[in-house]
Amino acid sequence: MLPFAPREVPVNQPLRKVVIPAAGLGTRFLPATKAVPKEMLPIVDTPTIQLIVEEALRAGAQEVVVVNGRGKGAIEDHFDRSYELETELRNKGKKDLFEQVRRISDSVRIISVRQKEPLGLGHAVLAARHAVGNEWFGVMLGDDVVDGDDPAIGQLARLCQKTGKAAVALMPVPESQVHLYGIGAGKPFEDGHILVDRIVEKPKRADAPSNLAVIGRYVLPPDIFEVLANLKPGAIGEIQLTDALAVLASQGRLLGVRFTGTRHDAGDRLGYLQANIAYALKRADLREGLLAFLREVTR
Ligand code: G1P
Repeated sequence: MLPFAPREVPVNQPLRKVVIPAAGLGTRFLPATKAVPKEMLPIVDTPTIQLIVEEALRAGAQEVVVVNGRGKGAIEDHFDRSYELETELRNKGKKDLFEQVRRISDSVRIISVRQKEPLGLGHAVLAARHAVGNEWFGVMLGDDVVDGDDPAIGQLARLCQKTGKAAVALMPVPESQVHLYGIGAGKPFEDGHILVDRIVEKPKRADAPSNLAVIGRYVLPPDIFEVLANLKPGAIGEIQLTDALAVLASQGRLLGVRFTGTRHDAGDRLGYLQANIAYALKRADLREGLLAFLREVTR
């Protein structure tokens, strides 16, 4: 364990900043992701990163720090004003579309930072250190889309504000999948949550402390950056965010939150298709047509 003496900062209320790591190469979605960032792949008609940003905004966040790699300019453009498009929509009287496009750029302040080398999720979060500063912040992974009335990141933030502890979203997964996730275990805490005392990144099935997987929502104190800066590479040779969480857990400062909402693994091709179908079925303009088609093709 690190010789790490925490300088604890009180939890700010509400959560103001979230970090979205978006520097991955998206190899699972090639060839689509050769020139288009995977975060821009749409669920129905909305880029996944916009769904994530909207979740953050609904939880009260105002600033989003996007950690970019190369070739991610489309993400910045998406959240920027598009003068030509707005003028065209206005001139053609497409008021609803105009307002939708304008709302995306007006509703959020995006700060872009660069992760210069792909050294892992922990390294990506560390790249946001100066943009976040000395306050509590959220981390939201674009592969995990969580649909629900109560935004998942807000559920975590409320618990942090109540307890002064950090929080990570946990969800049971089949034992055959534990090697794909960070896995946490601990003692029961109030309302079905747990006080995490062990957390490991991508364990073998036999070594997993439970079947509770980390889903990509975290609310963290700023002293996590100091932990991350001192970490050695962990699982698959990368600087792992989970290893920094293990330090918080060893100090009794990490809650595992059993959030409400439906989680889709949009970073997986099947999960991505399922997310598209689930979101399309919620849309009045698409539901009937899609149901008829599904009945037809599955007959
Ligand atoms: C990352 C994290 C892992 C977490 C997962 C959730 O892994 O390292 O702890 O369980 O996201 O989606 P990745 O999916 O990037 O391999």
